[in-house]
Amino acid sequence: MRMPIIFGNWKMNKRIEEAQALARGIAAEAPTDRIEVGIAPPFTALQAVSEVLKESRVHLAAQNVHWEMKGAHTGEISPEFVVDSGCDYAIIGHSERRQQFGETNNTVNRKLKSSFSVGLSAILCVGETLEEREGGRTEELVESQVRKCLDRLTRGDITKLVIAYEPIWAIGTGRTAAPEQAQQVHQFIRSIVEDLYGRETSSNLRIQYGGSVKPENAFSLMREADIDGFLVGGASLELESFIQILGKSLEAMPE
Ligand code: PGA
Repeated sequence: MRMPIIFGNWKMNKRIEEAQALARGIAAEAPTDRIEVGIAPPFTALQAVSEVLKESRVHLAAQNVHWEMKGAHTGEISPEFVVDSGCDYAIIGHSERRQQFGETNNTVNRKLKSSFSVGLSAILCVGETLEEREGGRTEELVESQVRKCLDRLTRGDITKLVIAYEPIWAIGTGRTAAPEQAQQVHQFIRSIVEDLYGRETSSNLRIQYGGSVKPENAFSLMREADIDGFLVGGASLELESFIQILGKSLEAMPE
């Protein structure tokens, strides 16, 4: 049985006090005994939020890291720095980083390696554009992302990896992939990981869905066999909707 994993990706939102207040609410209300719950505040709030989360089981993630540990990289953040700030996870290769900041499968691969080398777990984001989906190229694109991003990672690394399938056309648009549509890609991703690392590793891998997850669609998505949780953007910015998503997910889980 895979432990479901649901993280909130706050993107470029929440100043320190707001971040602490929201984190406090999540720490108090999230059902962390049955779901692995985490949040990814902006870098500037990590340390302050980690203080709030200290006594809780809520995980703390960075939204990005650099692939080097230190050096002349003005404006960048080392994986070691986010560990210092209390993180145990990093989100790597989010489509907004790929589209707005030119991240490639190659830099994503390097970021995964540097994150694992300092003991971070990682959430690797993959997903196709609308044009690619309409052109029938979803599997081709996702397969190439998964294979390139995992290049030369060890089986041990994969135990620290979560993959988030986030169709770009569903992010922040209110358009969600239909549960069967998402399930199909999740199953496909698992089959690629099986091909690379074998059955045991692939069946233990958790695959999140991301893209307009809301309290209204969490239940039906979570019922799918290969959907192991969510990476939630917009709906993770309000305590009520995030907690509702966790609640709906619990309802969808077998007893
Ligand atoms: P969304 O974002 O839930 O606002 O669509 C998801 C994500 O980008 O991780």
